[in-house]
Amino acid sequence: MDNTLTIAMPKGRIFEEAVELLRKAGYNLPPEFDDSRRLIIDVDAEEISFILAKPMDVATYVEHGVADIGIAGKDVLLEEERDVYELLDLHISACYLAVAGLPNAKMNDVAPKIATKYPNVAAAYFREQGEQVEIIKLNGSIELAPLIGLADRIVDIVSTGRTLVENGLVEYERIKDVTSRLIVNPVSYRIKDKRINELVSRLSGVVSSEGK
Ligand code: PRP
Repeated sequence: MDNTLTIAMPKGRIFEEAVELLRKAGYNLPPEFDDSRRLIIDVDAEEISFILAKPMDVATYVEHGVADIGIAGKDVLLEEERDVYELLDLHISACYLAVAGLPNAKMNDVAPKIATKYPNVAAAYFREQGEQVEIIKLNGSIELAPLIGLADRIVDIVSTGRTLVENGLVEYERIKDVTSRLIVNPVSYRIKDKRINELVSRLSGVVSSEGK
């Protein structure tokens, strides 16, 4: 049986921290991880093949079984609701989902507009608040929306808070804390349980040794 583990890694803000975590867990990842445009990196010595994916797509690859394992933000998992198991909170890339907008800007009384990359999370949040809103799905630079009159509020990730401050926006409500999680395809978990459990135990050793 092919013993190779395929791991989908999110490119972008989570990537560096995820690579660092894997290295601390004793996986010998070559220097090309730090500066490469390749989308598939095979590390033969570790019997691991890495897929470098858009963060929003990681859980899709894992659900479809083209990756056994993935590292995905809780934001993506909440938004996508994919059929995957969440095995471990890696406690990296901590941030949170929040409602933000221009200071002192009242919400439009009739179906205020909410711009977001997270339409499902945003819709669920405002439904729970009993507020009827119109969701406008964008793919990035969400902070633009209130500045140019596209939306009354945004639902987006806040990490350092710099993007809000530099664009003159304020946070109105905090929705949910977010960290990155280790996810697994349910069938892979059954078939490659030994390898996956070893990965989980090595990673959780690092996570807890860092006091998280
Ligand atoms: C995210 C998020 C905010 C920003 C928050 O965007 O959507 O725009 O980071 O980070 P901060 O609080 O540290 O300023 P990202 O950089 O992922 O790009 P995007 O605009 O394409 O979503």
